[in-house]
Amino acid sequence: MSSFKQSSRSVFSDRSMLAFEYVPKELVHRDNEMQRLFAIISPLLETGGRSAALTGGVGTGKTSLAKRFCTDFSDYAADRGKCVEFAVVNCRQKASNPAAMLKILRYFDPHFPDRGFSVPEMLEILRNHIRNRECHFVVVLDEVDVLARRSGTDLIYNLSRFEEDSVGGRKNLSLILISQHLPAEFLDEAILSTVKRSNTIHFRPYNADELYDITMQRAALALYPGAVEEEAIHLISEIAAEKGDARFAIELLETAGMLADERGMERVGVEEVRSAKAETYGLITADRLAELEKHKLLVLLAISRIIRGRIHVTTGELEKEYGAVCEEHGEEQRGHTQFWKYLNDLEILGILDRRISGKGQAGNTSLLTIRDVAAEDLSEAVKSILSGKK
Ligand SMILES: Nc1ncnc2c1ncn2[C@@H]1O[C@H](COP(=O)(O)OP(=O)(O)O)[C@@H](O)[C@H]1O
Ligand SMILES: [Mg+2]
Repeated sequence: MSSFKQSSRSVFSDRSMLAFEYVPKELVHRDNEMQRLFAIISPLLETGGRSAALTGGVGTGKTSLAKRFCTDFSDYAADRGKCVEFAVVNCRQKASNPAAMLKILRYFDPHFPDRGFSVPEMLEILRNHIRNRECHFVVVLDEVDVLARRSGTDLIYNLSRFEEDSVGGRKNLSLILISQHLPAEFLDEAILSTVKRSNTIHFRPYNADELYDITMQRAALALYPGAVEEEAIHLISEIAAEKGDARFAIELLETAGMLADERGMERVGVEEVRSAKAETYGLITADRLAELEKHKLLVLLAISRIIRGRIHVTTGELEKEYGAVCEEHGEEQRGHTQFWKYLNDLEILGILDRRISGKGQAGNTSLLTIRDVAAEDLSEAVKSILSGKK
């Protein structure tokens, strides 16, 4: 007999609706962005390839909107007797040109071998697939700035100019580039001229009212009717509005729901939300860490090594340890200014906490601490992400 207690009831009716990959049918408060993307991309049905860029902070709905758009647009095209197919590449996971190309080719051939072909050969194979199918193909490069930084922009360039030079060829490939940064920050002129400024859609952070509606929508899908108090959803949306991040709101809803279950309650109330926030499971999840650039991860690895058993460390100590960590990882240590920028960003993300040191100490020394995760856990999480980034 198992020693697990089967809990008699749960607030959740369908927890898969809270999963990271779940794409809602309707993206609340993103009609304008959806319409603009449609206006940019839809002429491909008449004239051939188009490109668009989506930018904005974490949790502003870029990835979900692109996926929803592709699915709906391909139905829209089918209704008009046209064929549109698409592939979404997460460039943080496929952070090299061959890895990104492999992901694209496996859309056509799930058994395409993972080695033995150069990128130009792979592009040629893609060309043949597209010609043979008489379908328009939309490639979504999500988190494309990561690919550009790690592997250069050659592949992005080639995809943006796909078949432009073929005789009488009509461009049968469109590109949607997604990143937190503006394209001008990581692409060169040659590509920017294709992804014109006017084809960039910026995703604002959500305000509390918008997050309220987003959280309500998700609660209706994932929890039983009446299983969450309206006030609890208000509190979730207020907390998440600090960063305008819908993902955080959904994570809070899930954690608060789990706490309600643990406490044997029938509904999620504000206290469960507060506890969920305190657990900060919402703030420092592996997903969140996985989105950080490598050197920020190295800084976190450094602090997790020296802060064990201590309340805080100084920035000077941390910078030194960061240098050591860089050396161990064969990375060039970034300069002082850049290092400070990392600290700033990590602080904004709520991962690091920084305060100016008490009196008697050097004026510009800050004390750093991590609050929401044990040093050991942080270190393990960062190491596993770094080993995957090789
Ligand atoms: N407008 C919205 N309506 C409903 N859910 C949303 C909306 N925007 C974001 N979400 C949800 O919030 C989470 C984060 O969105 P995501 O598209 O991954 O953001 P980004 O790619 O900008 O970081 C996902 O679970 C997504 O379904
Ligand atoms: Mg995303």
